[in-house]
Amino acid sequence: MTNIIKILESSNHICVNEIGNMLGISKVAVCKQIKNLKQLGYNIDSCTKGYKLIQDKKLFNEFEIESKLNKNLNVCKIIKYYKELPSTQTTVKMLAQKGFDEGTVVIVEKQTSGYGRIKRVWSSNPGGLWFSILLKPFLVPEESTKLALMLSIALKQTFDLYNIDSKIKWPNDIFIKNKKIAGIIIEMSAEQDIINWIVAGIGININNELPKELKDIATSLKEIISKEIDRTEFICKFFINFEKLYTSFKEKGLKPFLKEYNANLLYKNKHVTISNGHNTITGINLGIDENGMLIVKTKNNIEKIISGTLRKTQK
Ligand code: BTN
Repeated sequence: MTNIIKILESSNHICVNEIGNMLGISKVAVCKQIKNLKQLGYNIDSCTKGYKLIQDKKLFNEFEIESKLNKNLNVCKIIKYYKELPSTQTTVKMLAQKGFDEGTVVIVEKQTSGYGRIKRVWSSNPGGLWFSILLKPFLVPEESTKLALMLSIALKQTFDLYNIDSKIKWPNDIFIKNKKIAGIIIEMSAEQDIINWIVAGIGININNELPKELKDIATSLKEIISKEIDRTEFICKFFINFEKLYTSFKEKGLKPFLKEYNANLLYKNKHVTISNGHNTITGINLGIDENGMLIVKTKNNIEKIISGTLRKTQK
């Protein structure tokens, strides 16, 4: 993916015409992009010979991500970055209704009304990774949960690249040292037997401050590694992992990933309780089956559960 940052970074003062030719856009469009970059905090020197980027600090925005990704991925074809939004979920759902393509991604620095599963408040201070992806897989509505399971594998694989031992808490939370570090929410529009679109929302605590009341149950990557993390690098690694899994999932389904999911499951073979509004089931967590259902061995039976909130319990 060639973008203006890449061009400015690799040149020693370059004129507007030349940038325009390289990007296939007009002079006016180039000047507009340079103005935008300056507003985003880039230090761009200009003289009679043209423009030069003076890279003096790490910034986080769509230009940085596009320039680091270096390839076109179907899961992030269009990236939009905002300083503040109520929630990236509501923004992407709106874009989905307007007919935007699969791979539209909205990333935000701070959410004022971020939410998680069962409409729980999702704390979204600056410094984290808060984003939503528009997907349009050919699936029946019941299969949407499988997609969320795939996303948790992609997230887990991304933490692996930092040599961190993370676990997946069914259905799709990521835990490190028994504290939650990331969560996934799936919302969709569907007909009886076909999904129109899915908006997958992902929240990852990276460099953000956690509120006092969450400190015992949640953690951040910065807290684990004891240093600031380059969010551009993290999200690019995640997109690359997810692209690979999503491509394979569309062809072969969940089956090839069952082993990996179950091998990394938190509280596997432990005594757990799952509640989902109507029911509470208690038993041994045996992992998921190829339909993405959790298998629980209760006192008298084997139960299969499609959704709910899981807690570890004492026998
Ligand atoms: C959960 O664990 O319950 C899921 C949390 C999902 C949070 C993300 S942050 C980006 C996107 N926007 C939201 O409002 N929620 C998701």
